[in-house]
Amino acid sequence: MCGIVGAIGLNNPLEYVQKGLKMLDYRGYDSAGIGFFSNGIDIIKDVGSVEHLMSITPQNIQTNLIIGHTRWATHGSPDIRNTHPHISFNKRICLVHNGVIDNYKEIKDFLFEKGYRFYGETDSEAVANLLEYYYLEKKDVKSAIKETMSLIIGSYAIVFFTNNDPNTLYLFKNSSPLVIGVGDGFNLVASDASPLVKYTNDFIELDDFSFAVINEKEAKVFDREGNPIQAKIINKDIELISHDLKGYPHYMLKEIEEISPVINRIVNNYYINNKYQFDPQLIKDLNESDHIIFIACGTSYHVSLVGGRYFENYGKSASRFIASEWAFHPTFPGQKPFVILISQSGETADLIHCLNIIKQQNLNNLIITNTGGSTLDRNSHYSLLLHAGIEVSVASTKAYVAQTTLLALLAASLKDDYSVIDDLKHCIEVVEDIQNNYKPIIQKTAGELKDHQNIFYLGRSYDYFLSLEASLKLKEISYIHSEAIPGGELKHGPIALIEDGLPVIVFITDPTTAASMRGNIEEVKSRGAKVYVISTRSLSQQGDTIIVNDYAPYLSSVAISTVAFYLAYYVALAKGLNVDKPRNLAKSVTVE
Ligand code: F6R
Repeated sequence: MCGIVGAIGLNNPLEYVQKGLKMLDYRGYDSAGIGFFSNGIDIIKDVGSVEHLMSITPQNIQTNLIIGHTRWATHGSPDIRNTHPHISFNKRICLVHNGVIDNYKEIKDFLFEKGYRFYGETDSEAVANLLEYYYLEKKDVKSAIKETMSLIIGSYAIVFFTNNDPNTLYLFKNSSPLVIGVGDGFNLVASDASPLVKYTNDFIELDDFSFAVINEKEAKVFDREGNPIQAKIINKDIELISHDLKGYPHYMLKEIEEISPVINRIVNNYYINNKYQFDPQLIKDLNESDHIIFIACGTSYHVSLVGGRYFENYGKSASRFIASEWAFHPTFPGQKPFVILISQSGETADLIHCLNIIKQQNLNNLIITNTGGSTLDRNSHYSLLLHAGIEVSVASTKAYVAQTTLLALLAASLKDDYSVIDDLKHCIEVVEDIQNNYKPIIQKTAGELKDHQNIFYLGRSYDYFLSLEASLKLKEISYIHSEAIPGGELKHGPIALIEDGLPVIVFITDPTTAASMRGNIEEVKSRGAKVYVISTRSLSQQGDTIIVNDYAPYLSSVAISTVAFYLAYYVALAKGLNVDKPRNLAKSVTVE
């Protein structure tokens, strides 16, 4: 899970690399490095942040070509030996890599036999040496790439240059993203388009098993056999991939505050002229299937719990699976299942694993993702984009709401039910009201919670699904242990954990479960818990902590997840933690 940048022919390449790596450090941030060409191959790298790397990098580097990398360790500890770029044994190749080479041990054994030795533990160093081996044997870089691609198994986005050509960058990929930014007199490369947008509007998204040779004038793309491919130049909506903080102190806060416009944008994108805008064939396939299988991870899995219920409400049977579980025991309920994968990044390795199984089984599939051009977007049968704008904060917020909103629309479109449109528009008002008026009370509550070691969330039905997400958000950025429990399950075990002063946060937004939840509150209160109730106006009672305006209860993940997100944000802030980049986590989980 790493970020890659590269530039050739740019006036100030160091500025591009510095800003680009900063934008990409959501992909990992335990070490960073750059490679460039002065009199030959030169590298500067160290453990730590991109800021640290830049503090040890002379600002007067003269080079026509540069590559950079920010790493999140997978193979080998985050130390200097394993930090990218890697230089091959005979110092002919300088390379950065994102992904995982599954057969790197075999590659290393093969090279060891040929006299190669390794300074680190990474799979990436093995690729640098393999490229060099074939480069020296074939005396031609393109042949070396072809041979290397035919031998390595796994996911990779690789950018490299050689010791005798200061004017060419080479790149090749499989299952990990790599985008070329086409400029006037320069060309750029990055793991996603965000670092490129300041420089160009024209992008080439490299296909799997293709490679590219770029210099300052042109970008030539080839298939795995080395045949030239006419690369398609794509324009992107720059506003949606901009990393501008727009005056906010953190991306997470900015992204929470984008939730109401995001709901609006999705509705306007998929509902035009009083009609849903989904591909009619997709709707037909969904209607003709007898079972919907949802597969996702983390926050996106929580969305699948809600989405599954939406489809059930329209008469479909549905199952929900965690990708890393399903991948090893795939089950295919129904005679004619349809699989819906959900992934904000579109690059989650566990889900890519599942998609490969789904394709082998020839099952109809749809990806719901925020990332056009991502691996899952390009390789699934149908794709629906969230148009939520890039999410930089590691903790997903607006994408969670966007995914839920899109599933509400999609499920309703199966039966041409348009009532959801008004319900969603009403949610926008509820969210805006929370954004405008509730931050002080949420901040006050956060202050009371911040020093606790354990916090429980309770809810039933849709409020339980929301509790799961609220709890995940709190634990990942505040490092407070937290659990979400369905109200009815309390007595079946978890109530043993309730003790004096333990904070229990309870969602009550659904009339069908409100009375039972009030019963649960009495049970935990009588055992000493300090209860914080988040309720809707018509179900509220005196003493509730946060009371929001009413909305259609099935939309609780759309309407009041904003409260849960603010709460996690303000707790982490009060604890002085790095809100946008919690420890041990990366935004895009590209390894299984
Ligand atoms: C938590 C979070 C993660 C992701 C999970 C799946 O805030 O963001 O739990 O939801 O890693 O990622 P995607 O949705 O990109 O497949």
